[in-house]
Amino acid sequence: MSERTLVLVKPDGVKRGLVGEVISRIERKGLTLAQLELRTVERSVAEEHYAEHKDKPFFGELVDFITSGPLVAIAVEGTRAISAFRQLAGGTDPVEKATPGTIRGDFALEVQYNLVHGSDSAESAERELKLWFPN
Ligand code: CMP
Repeated sequence: MSERTLVLVKPDGVKRGLVGEVISRIERKGLTLAQLELRTVERSVAEEHYAEHKDKPFFGELVDFITSGPLVAIAVEGTRAISAFRQLAGGTDPVEKATPGTIRGDFALEVQYNLVHGSDSAESAERELKLWFPN
């Protein structure tokens, strides 16, 4: 079943020149790019995006980081796109959870600077896509 998921190449990924690498992996998997935008987000969007983490000790840092520079927001489409992209990304902790061969496993070391975000469920995807691509 075709579905859509929100992918972010976070500011660390843009700064490190890994946008092409991430897009290439998405395309090679067979997923397609439905919408794509380079933008620097306002705090209000970042806070809403990460609303489920608002009570976590790292919330402030997370919002500071995600608003620190341009990121690339992508609506990715395809069969089981939500779990397919999470598989490409690897686990949240790039060392303990992400395995080599995944985006985080190959290119990241720190949880905060884990390069990409992918919606974690159909409900999150719907909410996040509305927030990032209201049109
Ligand atoms: P993401 O998939 O975008 O969703 C929540 C993010 O919070 C996660 O990726 C990490 O980048 C970030 N995160 C999780 N744990 C920590 C932590 N201990 N310190 C800083 N950031 C964190």
